[in-house]
Amino acid sequence: MSGFQLQPVRVGSLVVEWPVFLAPMAGYTDGAFRSLCLEQGCGGGVTEMVSSQGLVRNHARTKHLLDTVEGERVVGAQLYGSDPAVMAAAAELVVATGRFAFIDINAGCPMPKIRNRGDGAGLMRNPARMAEITRQVKAAAGALPVTVKTRIGWDADCVNVLETTAGVEAAGADAICVHGRVARVRHSGPVAWDVIAEVKAARRVPVFGNGGVRVAEDVFRMVAETGVDGVMIGRPALGNPWLFRDIRDVAAGREPRAPSVEDVRAMIHEHMRREMELLGRRRAKDLRLGVDLTACLMLRAHLVRYLRGFRAFGALARTLEQRQDSATLLGRVDEVLASGRKCER
Ligand SMILES: Cc1cc2nc3c(=O)[nH]c(=O)nc-3n(C[C@H](O)[C@H](O)[C@H](O)COP(=O)(O)O)c2cc1C
Repeated sequence: MSGFQLQPVRVGSLVVEWPVFLAPMAGYTDGAFRSLCLEQGCGGGVTEMVSSQGLVRNHARTKHLLDTVEGERVVGAQLYGSDPAVMAAAAELVVATGRFAFIDINAGCPMPKIRNRGDGAGLMRNPARMAEITRQVKAAAGALPVTVKTRIGWDADCVNVLETTAGVEAAGADAICVHGRVARVRHSGPVAWDVIAEVKAARRVPVFGNGGVRVAEDVFRMVAETGVDGVMIGRPALGNPWLFRDIRDVAAGREPRAPSVEDVRAMIHEHMRREMELLGRRRAKDLRLGVDLTACLMLRAHLVRYLRGFRAFGALARTLEQRQDSATLLGRVDEVLASGRKCER
């Protein structure tokens, strides 16, 4: 399959060899899941969104969102907030960890409690502030590149991504990621690849596209249709870190391989192990339920995705609300896997 090419991309001082990234997803893309995706061929990841206020106030829960798994590459830390000075102070704390390859500014989160404070997507209603935050974070980030992840606009009457991205580019952003939806629709509905293409044509810095990728081939279709330098993928990777392997396979002209049942089993067990390893770094007083039960709770949302399509999944799904330790939960997972798939993937 010729023409399925992706070139390395320079993002400030960073050379991104394979510009296919896991998109940040709060509650999902912690170090455990990111590292599994990276091992399947994902080119880079971003932390879940991290409150700049929480970091500056030294909140333990917030700080742990910056935990990474040993050897994770290439990972950016995503910050949200609307006070430029606080965002800059948080950026300095990220730099001090020494663990991140870039800093990403969240200018797209549509959740009411975030956007109504002027954070996340709220920044799209204040392009001057978005630019000022970029300028101050860039000044605080030292050698680390600074990127901005945003949407095409606030609502259908305010599609202002050309204006906002011009502002952040002038303020020093090293790359921009555009999710091709307005904030109003949150995460559903059509994705405007044509607007992503307009941003790509208008900006000098690399532009990543996001939204509307379901299968590996879509990555190359998005690149061909919009001209973007790279792609970010969120939900389609949940329960399917092998998507990143598929993308490498398609690029190399190979047929993507469906994961075997044993692949799924090994992935889930390893996911659980890494989740526990990360949680084990927290102070006991911050984990009311302890490491084991908390890890099971965190894995629940992933299990729904890993095991969808297996015959006995319904029986497991009904138990997911119960408190269960990891040995019990993984035992049930193995039973579901043994029940076989309803149809081949
Ligand atoms: C559950 C969930 C959590 C998300 N959390 C974040 C976040 O923390 N930061 C961010 O920039 N985007 C976040 N997003 C948006 C995704 O990064 C992405 O832009 C969106 O899901 C569209 O891409 P997709 O269709 O490939 O999932 C989140 C999306 C979902 C569904």
